[in-house]
This record gives sequence, structure tokens and C-alpha cells, in this order.
Amino acid sequence: MFVTFEGIDGSGKTTLLQALAETMGKAHLCLTREPGDSALGKRLREIVLDAKTKGLDARAELFLFLADRAQHVAQVIRPALERGEMVFCDRYCDSTLAYQGAARGLSQDCIMDLNALASFGLEPDLTFLLDLPVSVAKSRMQQRNEAFEGRFDSYDGSFHEAVRAGFLELATRYAERIYVLDATRSLKELVSEAHKQLLARMPQ
Ligand code: TYD
Repeated sequence: MFVTFEGIDGSGKTTLLQALAETMGKAHLCLTREPGDSALGKRLREIVLDAKTKGLDARAELFLFLADRAQHVAQVIRPALERGEMVFCDRYCDSTLAYQGAARGLSQDCIMDLNALASFGLEPDLTFLLDLPVSVAKSRMQQRNEAFEGRFDSYDGSFHEAVRAGFLELATRYAERIYVLDATRSLKELVSEAHKQLLARMPQ
């Protein structure tokens, strides 16, 4: 089973992913993330997330994320699924639609086609979308003094509002696959709700 975790920066999806993995027991579980969990991905991640890469053209950024995805699916996700493992992936195709599509303004239809190519057509069985107001996410990140701040600060609030709206639109469009969690709730509540959803959808 392939499960992805999505949300704006500071939504707490990584924390939820890890806590849910603890609850599930880590045997036969592959924890991974985009960008960055293949050898190529680690190098692409440095480029794409480096604050100095500000000014990266939206199209160039798109192709870096897609290159990372193709290598990641080929090298990490598909082999894990073929070994019968459950895969938890921190960000995937929906992030590209929300960030490069809804927020950066590139064509959603074009991104859908490119996502399908880069992902070998592999779609998640279930996606958790952690939704919360941008102001709450931003203050959480500031409290944690996140290293990501450079790039975060380089975009104004409206960028992240557009990302959030993009994710919510995807959740409406793919209501069967995307389960929206209210990320302002406690971690304990989120883990419990996500765990229930997961068990309900796991193949018997
Ligand atoms: P990261 O440090 O992994 O942040 P997070 O913990 O919030 O996931 O940075 C990933 C950043 O890359 C994040 O701002 C979202 C962005 N991103 C895209 O813009 N497009 C994509 O396709 C992906 C996978 C990520």
C-alpha cells in the first residue's frame, strides 16, 4: 500500500508520518520523502532547497522535482512496493500540482501529464492532507527556527495561501483518495484519526 503525506510547509506532516510509523510498527514499512530519497534526489534537493537558488525559474524548478520523482519511484518506491512493503512518502505528485501549479502558475494539465510520466503512473492508495491556516504554519516554523526559513521567507503569504488552496482543490477533486486532516489538532488526535483511516483502507 502506498500512502503519501501532503500539506503546506510547517503543517506537521513529517511529524505525523513518523508518529504513525511508530504506531504501525516499522517492520515492512518504507519511510521516504521528496525531494531527496535517491542518490540523485539528495543532490537535486540541495539545489532546489538552497536559499541561494532563489530566482530559479518555475519551469526549471518543475523539472528538478520531476527528475527527483522519476528516480525516486524507480529506485526506492517501486522496489519497496514490489517487496510487499507499505510505503509512507513525505510529499509526492500533489505537491507539484499545488506548488508549481496553483502557486507558481504553471498549467495543471501539463503537470498532470508530466507527473504521470515521472511517476510511471504510480498513484497513492491514500493521501493525508494536513490542512491549517498559513499564519499558524508560519508561526510554528518560526518557533522551531527552521533552517528552511530562507526560502520560506522569500515567498510572501499569498504564495502559501495559493499552495493551501491548491491542495484543498485537489482534495475536492480526488475525495476518494485524499483524506483531509485538521492540522491544528493535537498530534495524538491526528495519529489516532489517520491510523483509523489507514486500517479501514488496508487490503485484508
Ligand atoms: P522540505 O524541506 O522537504 O520541506 P517539508 O518538510 O515542508 O516537506 O522542502 C520541500 C519543499 O519543496 C517544500 O517547500 C515543497 C517543495 N516542493 C515543491 O515545490 N514541489 C514538489 O513537487 C515537491 C515534492 C516539493
